[in-house]
Amino acid sequence: MALPRSEYLSDAWKDGIFCNKVVFCTGGGGTICSAQVRALVHLGANACIIGRNAGKTERMAQSLAKAREGAKVIGIGAVDVRDLKSLEAAVHRCANELGAIDYVIAGAAGNFLAPISGLSSNAFRTVLEIDTLGSYNTLKATLPYLLVSAKKNQNTGRNKSTGGRIIFVSATFHYAGTPLQAHAAAAKAGVDAISATAALEYGPQGITSNVITPGPIANTEGMARLGGNEDQESADAVFRSIPLQRYGTVKDIADGTVYLFSDTGNYITGAVLVIDGASWRSPSAL
Ligand code: HXC
Repeated sequence: MALPRSEYLSDAWKDGIFCNKVVFCTGGGGTICSAQVRALVHLGANACIIGRNAGKTERMAQSLAKAREGAKVIGIGAVDVRDLKSLEAAVHRCANELGAIDYVIAGAAGNFLAPISGLSSNAFRTVLEIDTLGSYNTLKATLPYLLVSAKKNQNTGRNKSTGGRIIFVSATFHYAGTPLQAHAAAAKAGVDAISATAALEYGPQGITSNVITPGPIANTEGMARLGGNEDQESADAVFRSIPLQRYGTVKDIADGTVYLFSDTGNYITGAVLVIDGASWRSPSAL
C-alpha cells in the first residue's frame, strides 16, 4: 500500500519538479531518510538507497518505488559507509543504472545513549567513523557525479532545473552540549564542518552543500534510541520542552529537503536548516 501524500509531503510542492533527477541516499532504509527520498520520488526523481542491512534496504526500496508510478528505486544493501570502496561501487552502480547522480543525502548514522565514563574508546570511534567518516566518504564518492550535474544545471538563480546538491543529516547535540551524547555530538560537529567546507570549496562549480538537523521526530529509531519513548514521565518531559508543543514529523524533514534541492534553494549553501521546533534552545529537550 502506498502512503498517502499528506503523510510525507506538503501540497505546496508541484508534481514533476524532480523529473529525470536521481538521488543517492545513505541510511535510506531508516525512517527519516526514507521519508526524504519518498518525497523526492513522489515529485519525479529516481533513487538509489544504501544501507548496512540488505533485506531492510531492499524492502524499503520497493516501498519507495510505490510513491510514483514508473519510479525506479534501487536498494543496495550490505554497504557500510565506513568502507569507501564498497560505497564507491554502489555509487557507480547507481550512476550506471539510473544515468546520473543529481542529489545526495548523507544520512547514515549510528547512536546510543552513554555517559562519557561508559564509552569505550572503540565505541566513541565507531560513532565518529559511521557519522563523520561515513559522511566524508559519501561526499568523496559522489563528488564526480555532483560536479557533472551542477555543470549541466548551472545555478543561475533563474534555472528551475537543479542538480549538484548534497544534504548532510546532522543533529543539534553539539550546539549546547547534550548529556550522554559526547560521541554523537562530536561526530555531528564534524559533519557540519565537512558540509561548510564543501560549500566553500565547490560553490564556484555550482554545488550546494547544506545540513538538515532533525529534532525530536515522532516514530523514528532516533527517538526510540535516545529515550524519548522510554517511559511516560521522560516522554512527557521531552514533549513539554518542545517550544512548538508537538513532535516533529518525517514530513517536516521531507519538506525541508525538497526546499533545499528544488529551485527554492538556489542561493542556499553552507547553511544549517534546523527542523526541531526550537527544541535545542530548550534545555530539557533531547
Ligand atoms: C556503550 C556501546 C553501546 C551502548 C555499542 N557500544 N552500543 N557502548 N553504550 N549502548 C559499543 C560496543 O560495545 C563497541 O565497543 C562499540 O560500541 C562498537 O559496537 P559494535 O556493535 O561492534 O559496532 P557496530 O556493529 O558498527 O554498531 C554501531 C552502533 C550500533 C552505532 C554501535 O548501535 C548501530 O549499528 N547503530 C545503527 C543504527 C542507529 O544507531 N541508528 C540511530 C541513529 S539515530 P567495545 O569497546 O565493546 O568494542 C541518530 C540520532 C537521531 O543518529 C536524533 C534524533 C533526536
